[in-house]
Amino acid sequence: MKSVVDILDLSVAEVDELLATAADIIENPAKYAEVCRGKKLATLFFEPSTRTRLSFEAAMYELGGNVIGFSSASSTSASKGESVADTAKVISCYADIIAMRHPKEGAPLVASLNAGIPVINAGDGGHHHPTQTLADLLTIKREKGKFSGLTVGFCGDLKFGRTVHSLITALCRYENINFVMISPDELKLPGYVKNEIPKDRGFTYTETADLEAVMPTLDILYMTRVQQERFTDIDEYLRLRDAYILNTEKLKAAKPDMIVLHPLPRVNEISVAVDDDPRACYFKQVQNGKYMRMALILKLLREAEKDNAPAKKLSEEGYLSGMKCDNPRCITTTEQELKQLFRVVSPENRICRCIYCDTKKIY
Ligand code: NCD
Repeated sequence: MKSVVDILDLSVAEVDELLATAADIIENPAKYAEVCRGKKLATLFFEPSTRTRLSFEAAMYELGGNVIGFSSASSTSASKGESVADTAKVISCYADIIAMRHPKEGAPLVASLNAGIPVINAGDGGHHHPTQTLADLLTIKREKGKFSGLTVGFCGDLKFGRTVHSLITALCRYENINFVMISPDELKLPGYVKNEIPKDRGFTYTETADLEAVMPTLDILYMTRVQQERFTDIDEYLRLRDAYILNTEKLKAAKPDMIVLHPLPRVNEISVAVDDDPRACYFKQVQNGKYMRMALILKLLREAEKDNAPAKKLSEEGYLSGMKCDNPRCITTTEQELKQLFRVVSPENRICRCIYCDTKKIY
């Protein structure tokens, strides 16, 4: 049973296949109007969302399928203390595929290990957001025609911005990409993402706090919202939230064919006047997200039909156990029965990472 929790659950060939299906859906929507007739998507959204949830729902309807689900944790048995594992088992009796958003990092992985149906991660805490990445990749493909050989600037909250983490991970499988990370010191990219950037194959990595200085070099500028909901100190949020505001004046220094992306929702980081600039592609990104979700739902349902196996059990072999994850947002802090496991990432420095949320630990 194939689930997509992390963008790396899809091979480069599978991403290419999804890009091709999405392009075909755009060209021939009628061909896909009935392909999921009789199938049900369950949207389990334990955290607020407008775009992602409605995009999944619109995607399923356009494939001819049906949707059940909820959009807030307060209306579910989670508020009575039900575990993510049990919720996944229960929903498997009603639906054919799950899209899950959860504030706890690693929750969709737990669901995928317990559901007998495919699970798609629709965002887990500040961790991963693979279907936004699929939307980003289709937009880059359609606007720039390629992934390799680009200078890509990420600006804003690179610490908690899960869409940034997933897109970097995806782009690291291509080559000759210059990453330019633009953020205040407090919101720098986490080490576990930075470490993934290859030291060879033409990758470069620069960190700066100065957007204007790097603007002329960029082919893509990926703006992000400062993620208020992940801050424990509200004063720190208020101090950082307006660190970067893209306006038409700043855009004058950019290449004429640079594209501006943003996963949305936008708060202040892009002024509304920028929307009229042909380089603003964030609303196209929303549209592309629906096509990629259609392609993904269709692929996972077709594969599940072929492979009607029960949920894959996690083998504990090769992992470290007997330690606790230090991340307060990790699913292991609330899921009582969950066995905590760590994968060794650097034996020479005795570094391992939680398999659910990727938080580093010294063993
Ligand atoms: C993003 C998310 O949920 O992480 N939005 C989205 O998927 N459209 C970005 C954000 O909330 O800032």
